[in-house]
Amino acid sequence: MQIVHVSAECYPVAKVGGLGDVVGSLPKFLNELGHDASVVMPMYRSKYLYNHDWEVVHKASSNLGHWWFDYTVIKEKSDAQGFGLYLIDINGLLDREKVYGYEDDVERFCAFQIAFANWVCSWDTLPHVIHVHDHHAGLIPFIMQHTYAFKRLESVPSVLTIHNAQYQGSFGWDKTTYLPQWDSWKRGMLEWQGAINPLASAIKCAWKVTTVSNNYLGKLKHMSNGLEPLFEYEKGKCSGIINGIDYEVWDPQKDTYLDHHYSEKTISEGKSKNKELLCKEFGLDPNKPLFVFIGRLVGEKGADLLPQSIYDSFQFIGRKMNFLVLGSGETEVESGLSLLKNYAKQDYNVYIGYNEKLSHLMYAGADFLLMPSRVEPCGLNQLYAMKYGTVPVVRATGGLKDTVRDVGENGGYGITFLNTSVGNITHAIFRATELYHQKETFSTIRKKIMALDFSWTRSANDYVNLYQSFY
Ligand code: ADP
Ligand code: GLC
Repeated sequence: MQIVHVSAECYPVAKVGGLGDVVGSLPKFLNELGHDASVVMPMYRSKYLYNHDWEVVHKASSNLGHWWFDYTVIKEKSDAQGFGLYLIDINGLLDREKVYGYEDDVERFCAFQIAFANWVCSWDTLPHVIHVHDHHAGLIPFIMQHTYAFKRLESVPSVLTIHNAQYQGSFGWDKTTYLPQWDSWKRGMLEWQGAINPLASAIKCAWKVTTVSNNYLGKLKHMSNGLEPLFEYEKGKCSGIINGIDYEVWDPQKDTYLDHHYSEKTISEGKSKNKELLCKEFGLDPNKPLFVFIGRLVGEKGADLLPQSIYDSFQFIGRKMNFLVLGSGETEVESGLSLLKNYAKQDYNVYIGYNEKLSHLMYAGADFLLMPSRVEPCGLNQLYAMKYGTVPVVRATGGLKDTVRDVGENGGYGITFLNTSVGNITHAIFRATELYHQKETFSTIRKKIMALDFSWTRSANDYVNLYQSFY
């Protein structure tokens, strides 16, 4: 089957979070199953663009309301990622440094989606499935189903995968002219709570909707930033498919970002070397257990509670552990974490910013990964951590609940807690510190998590079954 993924992110071209990782790996595994999967995304001004060779496959013009624009579709010549990778260039709109965060994001992603539909409409043979990811591509199912200009796409099945329902991309009806013409009585297919809501529209218009874990799908009916009744209403076409991870990229035996590689057999020595490197760089003590946090510094991830939880751990458990935080996000959280350095110099440090190489070294060198998420649709960090023998300490929610079992349970291998609260986090840190000193149990758990299989094999098959249900 020919499957076209449309997304704002795709690793290694452009990644802000897990969406990039998923879109950068799932198509490769679909292709390994004998399909023809490709990715279409905006052409940002990324390093990847300049380091690869491209060919122009299409040039045309389209319009965003009264504004006519030219667009160009380029393809990476060698299929270096294991799938066809297409970038859409719209001069001045998409070719920027960052993926998101501009005042004209609505215009940027609307124009991108219109250009995409315009291009696909010109194909001799249409794809079997168009698979859109999150709200940045969320207007595509509506455009395919309900606009006159793209009527040819009406019969192509569309799938929406929701990676994060907190962000929905809503904008006002004053921008309705951005969309190609449609019958005004279909307004309900775009609207949610008085605005044009791309995520809600995709939930209504896509043929099937998936979320990145089963548990998260259940949660959305009770907590989805206003979309709760919609999930209840559309539940018939929704299902959860847990993300996989790409062991070609994330494997301590061959990780290209690491100087010291290791396997289950050499875990103890391998992790120690990486830990030493990390501790040296950040002035930490390699003899104490090392807890790390990697991620967006936002409330969703529980990052706002980190400073107090770390402070309380030192107060109540003692200075028996180190912490290292990598992330960027809300200003107050960033400054709370930076200020904590004044209090704890030898056993705490923080790197504010995005650093792919450092993240790999942290997964390899840490003993524990903290994820006190309030919301976690799937979570990839805990899966990476486990492959690197780093024990996850997580709040049992969404995908974290589906992938981490507490050591207290029969066959458990991580530390879980119920609520995103300072008390719960500190208690989990206490439990982890105790576990660290039970040398034999700790070593068995590390080996066990390295051997767990969170590859794409099963989930890619689940997607194929979903696509095949249309035919
Ligand atoms: P989300 O997509 O909600 O941010 P995920 O757990 O699905 O969370 O994925 C996060 C991805 O982004 C992981 O690959 C993680 O290593 C990476 N990441 C997050 N923040 C940073 C950062 N500051 N530097 C490097 N990598 C980061
Ligand atoms: C989102 C979610 C995260 C998930 C990722 C990839 O960003 O917040 O939990 O792992 O998408 O699906």
